[in-house]
Amino acid sequence: MRRPLIAGNWKMNLGHADALRLADGIFAGIDVPPDRDCAIFPPFTSLQAIAEKLRSSPIKVGGQNCHPDAEGAFTGEIACSMLKAAGASMVILGHSERRHLLGETDAFVNRKVKAALAARLKPILCVGETLAERDAGRTADVVLGQVRRGLDGVATDAMRDVVLAYEPVWAIGTGKTATPAQAQDVHAAIRGELALLFGKPVAEDTLILYGGSVKPSNVDGLMAMPDVDGALVGGASLDEADFHRIVWFETPEG
Ligand code: PGA
Repeated sequence: MRRPLIAGNWKMNLGHADALRLADGIFAGIDVPPDRDCAIFPPFTSLQAIAEKLRSSPIKVGGQNCHPDAEGAFTGEIACSMLKAAGASMVILGHSERRHLLGETDAFVNRKVKAALAARLKPILCVGETLAERDAGRTADVVLGQVRRGLDGVATDAMRDVVLAYEPVWAIGTGKTATPAQAQDVHAAIRGELALLFGKPVAEDTLILYGGSVKPSNVDGLMAMPDVDGALVGGASLDEADFHRIVWFETPEG
């Protein structure tokens, strides 16, 4: 049984005071339904304070990135152990903004996935195609390649701590969401690839989130798809009411 996860990626938004205000609002206002999980990913500068605030809540806290090395001369980077010590239990890896704006490669993302698992941080491995790649009919190729290379060398039993996120680059922050059918197609292909790599039981148990302009108005349709197990929410996670509605998504089965 896959337990849905709604994850709020705050990206490089909110100074400390605003971040604390939003976390307070989420803490006070969002009762997470018992059949699902919720996590937020604030900027590093607010992570520890927010993790402390949310310690007695069901809402988990995670980092937006990590470096694969344990320590050393990596100016501006953050180690998995530092995230853990700050109260994080998860980490977003391979986000397309890092792949495309900062040049992160699959090989580098793969090292981070393994470092996060070794540190007992649950990685959310993000994959997704650009519009040009989709238009060229290369979606499956690109996305499944990212899955294979991102998970290279990950042990089958470590997969219980891995979450995948399909985030079509053309849908991130653009207001253009993949239709539920488009998302379902790619999610099913990812699950098929996981079955080839790790076996069917692992594939059936692995969460695959959808991300890219998820909003209150489209979350229910996306979550109704059999292979969409949750959402990685950017912009709408900065609005308490919108995020609340997304956490409270409704599917036809209830
Ligand atoms: P968005 O971002 O919801 O603002 O499109 C999603 C993400 O990048 O994780």
